[in-house]
Amino acid sequence: MDRTAPTDHPVLPAIAARWSPRSYLEEAIPDADLRRVLEAGRWAASAYNEQPWLYLVTRRHVEPEAHAKLLACLVPFNQGWAVRAPVLILACYRQTMAGKGTPNRWAAYDTGQASSAMAIEAAALGLQIHQMAGFDAAAARAAFAIPEDAEPIAAMTLGKPGPASALDEALAQRETAPRARKPFGELFFAGAWGKGL
Ligand SMILES: Cc1cc2nc3c(=O)[nH]c(=O)nc-3n(C[C@H](O)[C@H](O)[C@H](O)COP(=O)(O)O)c2cc1C
Repeated sequence: MDRTAPTDHPVLPAIAARWSPRSYLEEAIPDADLRRVLEAGRWAASAYNEQPWLYLVTRRHVEPEAHAKLLACLVPFNQGWAVRAPVLILACYRQTMAGKGTPNRWAAYDTGQASSAMAIEAAALGLQIHQMAGFDAAAARAAFAIPEDAEPIAAMTLGKPGPASALDEALAQRETAPRARKPFGELFFAGAWGKGL
């Protein structure tokens, strides 16, 4: 299924190829691919090079109990489709600067950049990441004894996309709906607030 973004301007192929599937093949992904995706996150930029991101990775074929535990932290809607993805990841960020203990107000921003780099790297490999806000952060904290200073911010699936026909009708429709974005000029301003570029 081709979900390539119909961009107004040319972008790197992997950026156009990235999308958020809900149908996944259950097959495990090669460990080398997983490490390559995570490595892309590792090299993201961050304020003061703090690298505040911390990712908990569960592979159904390697850590089945942890995988089931993380799946159970997702809201029921997300559990319904994420159940087939071979890898689940919990993105967290350290809330304070290492050594200083002062708040790091860019930590969530930086962690989003790391996740975005991972998603693009995954797309370049024919895999896809689907990020999720729909999970219970307190349940994840309790299930994995996540320390106070680390804040769970998003869950994500990683794997090879499967056919839309594997989903129920409503989800299959969403899986194949045209991809859309706000117009360029609503998002990017030229020199003055609200003046579309
Ligand atoms: C931080 C974040 C949270 C999201 N939460 C959910 C979620 O809980 N459930 C879901 O099905 N999709 C979720 N999404 C996926 C978005 O709906 C999706 O990225 C958006 O519709 C754009 O589609 P695309 O990623 O295929 O371009 C989330 C995406 C992000 C970045």
